[in-house]
Amino acid sequence: MSLTNFPGSANSSPLDPSITKVTIPALAEMKRQGKPISALTAYDYSTARLVDEAGIDLVLVGDSLAMVVMGQENTLAVTVDEMLHHTRAVRRAVRRALVVADMPFGSYHGTVTDGVANAVRFVKEAGAEAVKVEGPRVALVQALTDAEIPVIGHLGLTPQSINRMGGYRVQAKTIDAVQQIRADAKALEEAGAGVLVLEGIPREVAAEITAELTIPTIGIGAGPECDGQILVFHDMVNLSFAPKAKFARRYVDASSLFHTAIEQYREDVEHRAFPSDEESYHLPSAVKKEMQAEPSSVQPIKQLRKA
Ligand code: KIV
Repeated sequence: MSLTNFPGSANSSPLDPSITKVTIPALAEMKRQGKPISALTAYDYSTARLVDEAGIDLVLVGDSLAMVVMGQENTLAVTVDEMLHHTRAVRRAVRRALVVADMPFGSYHGTVTDGVANAVRFVKEAGAEAVKVEGPRVALVQALTDAEIPVIGHLGLTPQSINRMGGYRVQAKTIDAVQQIRADAKALEEAGAGVLVLEGIPREVAAEITAELTIPTIGIGAGPECDGQILVFHDMVNLSFAPKAKFARRYVDASSLFHTAIEQYREDVEHRAFPSDEESYHLPSAVKKEMQAEPSSVQPIKQLRKA
């Protein structure tokens, strides 16, 4: 498509030119202007629509879906094909937010070439506008940037490192670890990362990194000085069936709302209170009258089936 024919401005959503699409440069500009960036995870069409329509800036199809959607113990088993499936659903729903796909464990831990090939799948096959990778994978971030794929880095408590970390533990608590994460953050920025997620680190460390970088930081359990915040959707609405982490504020108790609604439905079915007459389809009145006037003209069901 010629650039001059592109609908709306370069920044408008191809699906709706009246909407200004959030892009990586737009997030950088938000940092420059001191405007906080809001981010949430989403894994399916309906929640992604709600998240986008509420004006959230960045939607992450997180590999946390392994736990909150698929009921797995950690994030390690989810595959590229499963992540692609969910990313496609989210992409269909989102008009404004930046759609980021999380690269799952194993999809970028071999060669840089394999990592780039997997990232290309998220862009080509699912419409992702950026990918996220965990850890200080500087060479990969550089290669993805060279391949025109925007990258989001992720440092601190990186859930794909659960076996190495020995559990989900707050990171960067010693002077050495603080120096290391600051150096890793700088190296990711220099390699071309457009945004950096900081998870499970002391507030003071996240504040320091945020001040040192020109790219925006997005925190989760990393205190209020980050340029933006992200939460797992299911934690925010109490649907994750897991102990609440200190930072995971619950904005609604969807679990109890849904529980009450589902129990009410079951009771209505059991008491024949659902569906009502208003919730039923009816015969046209002429046909109904005919059936009432001459019930014998209507063949028994069994005969009708044989005819
Ligand atoms: O998978 C995920 O949901 C994440 C966020 C918590 C940052 O990586």
